[in-house]
Amino acid sequence: VPRQVRARVRRWRARGKSVAFVPTMGALHAGHLALIARARRAADRVVVSLFVNPLQFDNVNDLKAYPRDFTRDLGILSGAKVDLVFAPRADVFYAKDHATRVVVEGLDRVLEGAHRKGHFTGVATVVTKLLHVVEPDQLWLGQKDAQQVAVLKRMVRDLDLPVAVRVGATVREKDGLAMSSRNARLSADERAQAPALYAALRAGAQRLLHPGRAPAVHVAELAMHVVLARAKLLRVDYATLVDPRTFSAPGRDVRRGLLVVAARFPSARLIDNLPVRLGGAR
Ligand code: PAF
Repeated sequence: VPRQVRARVRRWRARGKSVAFVPTMGALHAGHLALIARARRAADRVVVSLFVNPLQFDNVNDLKAYPRDFTRDLGILSGAKVDLVFAPRADVFYAKDHATRVVVEGLDRVLEGAHRKGHFTGVATVVTKLLHVVEPDQLWLGQKDAQQVAVLKRMVRDLDLPVAVRVGATVREKDGLAMSSRNARLSADERAQAPALYAALRAGAQRLLHPGRAPAVHVAELAMHVVLARAKLLRVDYATLVDPRTFSAPGRDVRRGLLVVAARFPSARLIDNLPVRLGGAR
């Protein structure tokens, strides 16, 4: 119940304890656990939410197919030294006539935003609600959803929300595939081709070490598409280089870029990214 969660956290904070919050949609994997462990080291108390947010799914089938196993998730969290789990029911958390949305303009129109209409508005709205319930000192997010990180950092800044946004590194399988709840949906053949996303990012990063005279974005895109084309079951939504703050093409003075990729298998859509340093003269 939101009121009880808020009261509990307020008691901790009144006693001088710092509180970290890790929002999740359940289907917990090693990536979540690494994020929770980081949060644990950074704060005195850790709160985790389990909530499959209907507002952020642009596709009813994706929402239906989203893996849910509450009992398993609770078991995992009890082993992860989490102090409090907030798992509201959707019909309780959202009033029947819920009408309010938080829109982060611009960032919600490009790349993931363009491919998943309304997705970031759904994310920004639920995270605003969750932050108001939990009132944490720190909000912990995974780097794998880099555009979500950019959207939420902008929202926190724009709305003066009193929370520090912290980012945990992407956790990968041995073959490079980024951990994701959607990986569970891949067929054996798709799973065998899935490391192509990370391989493409690495190829892009490698090429950017010696970009030559061509624009960095073109160099990176070409290198990534060559690798992705080998994965025959994949349909690429985008594979490009962006400024991680705006998710559009980096200006000439930008030193830190982000390679981003999104691609669809018949069974699931995957995303991944890799930060890169950009040279001076481009
Ligand atoms: O990254 C996620 O799992 C979700 O987008 C989040 C941040 C929990 C909001 O529903």
